[in-house]
Amino acid sequence: MNKQVKITSEAVLDALSKVQEPELHKDLVTLNMIRDLKIDGDRVSFTIVLTTPACPMRGKIEQNARQAVESIPGVGAVEVKMDANVPSDGRARGLLQLPIRNAIAVASGKGGVGKSTVAVNIAVVLAQYGARVGLLDADIYGPNIPTMMGVQQLPPAHDDKLAPAESYGVKIMSIGFLVKPDQPLIWRGPMLHSAIRQFLTDVAWGELDYLIVDLPPGTGDAALSLAQSLPLSGGIIVTLPQQVSLDDARRGLEMFRQLDVPLFGVVENMSYLDLPDGTRMDVFGSGGGERLARESGVPYIGAIPIDPTVRQGGDQGKPVVITHPDSPVSQALKHIAEDIAAKISVAAVQQNDNIIPITMVD
Ligand SMILES: Nc1ncnc2c1ncn2[C@@H]1O[C@H](COP(=O)(O)OP(=O)(O)OP(=O)(O)O)[C@@H](O)[C@H]1O
Ligand SMILES: [Mg+2]
Repeated sequence: MNKQVKITSEAVLDALSKVQEPELHKDLVTLNMIRDLKIDGDRVSFTIVLTTPACPMRGKIEQNARQAVESIPGVGAVEVKMDANVPSDGRARGLLQLPIRNAIAVASGKGGVGKSTVAVNIAVVLAQYGARVGLLDADIYGPNIPTMMGVQQLPPAHDDKLAPAESYGVKIMSIGFLVKPDQPLIWRGPMLHSAIRQFLTDVAWGELDYLIVDLPPGTGDAALSLAQSLPLSGGIIVTLPQQVSLDDARRGLEMFRQLDVPLFGVVENMSYLDLPDGTRMDVFGSGGGERLARESGVPYIGAIPIDPTVRQGGDQGKPVVITHPDSPVSQALKHIAEDIAAKISVAAVQQNDNIIPITMVD
């Protein structure tokens, strides 16, 4: 090592300011992602604080940052720690006193297309990455989340708030916890509105990075109540590839537009079935989700194949991303969760114009 060369924090930050965050299209220093920079002789250590723990580019960003600093003359060892701090979309949930940084609604036009399946599995994926995740079952007519997440009751309430159930690291609230399974759920408009509001305000959610909201099918009151009660970061539309589902999905898209909810995009579920002989069967047609996204001018997020393990997992309360994490269907769900997390980050960073570049002190 050349003892003559003194490594300055300016030099390190200058090198890191050439490293781009690929989703946010800004450099790590401008994004204020570099923390705990320490220089000890020829050793440099720092932490990169990403905007989501579910960042698929994590490894690449770490590698680029390391290489950038290693190429500074005189630098010996470089230690990079990775962390994440999910930004809030800046919407005024503080008024409800909800420390929920981002809220994402999963909707469709049609019933039975896999909304709850998508909501459950993306919630579990995000929690597995280390994010603080809540899952709100806003399907007050046919609550399926308790079954799909394998929990049947709430823990004892503390203070004056209901404690959410917890499963696979996800906090869960559902009307299913509060009524008997065979009890019909008939709601009048105002009751429904207050039920959804209470799910938000009377539940001890704690601080959440992401609240995933599973909506009932259709474009009815529940979505309206939700959008009025909780400013949403964005919505996702789940559809099957076939025309009848697409027509309904289009109505779902329009509903979000009318409610002023940004659209993160379209997910096509049950896209195809991989057969044992290696061929692929388009059970419900193909390409419809992508076409809908294109025609509606919203992003296409991805496709999920048909796999019987999805249904088994749902019925047994063991999400497929837990039981078969490496299967194509779980990989598809994981990519969708990552994509949504990335879109949330981009939206949040765009909303928060308060990103202050790190001040360089020597
Ligand atoms: N990709 C898939 N492969 C196989 N089965 C699936 C897939 N996606 C969903 N399913 C199954 O299809 C059924 C309907 O899915 P799900 O309950 O998630 O739909 P939904 O849109 O939430 O329905 P609802 O409108 O009734 O709320 C469930 O039994 C689920 O396990
Ligand atoms: Mg459902």
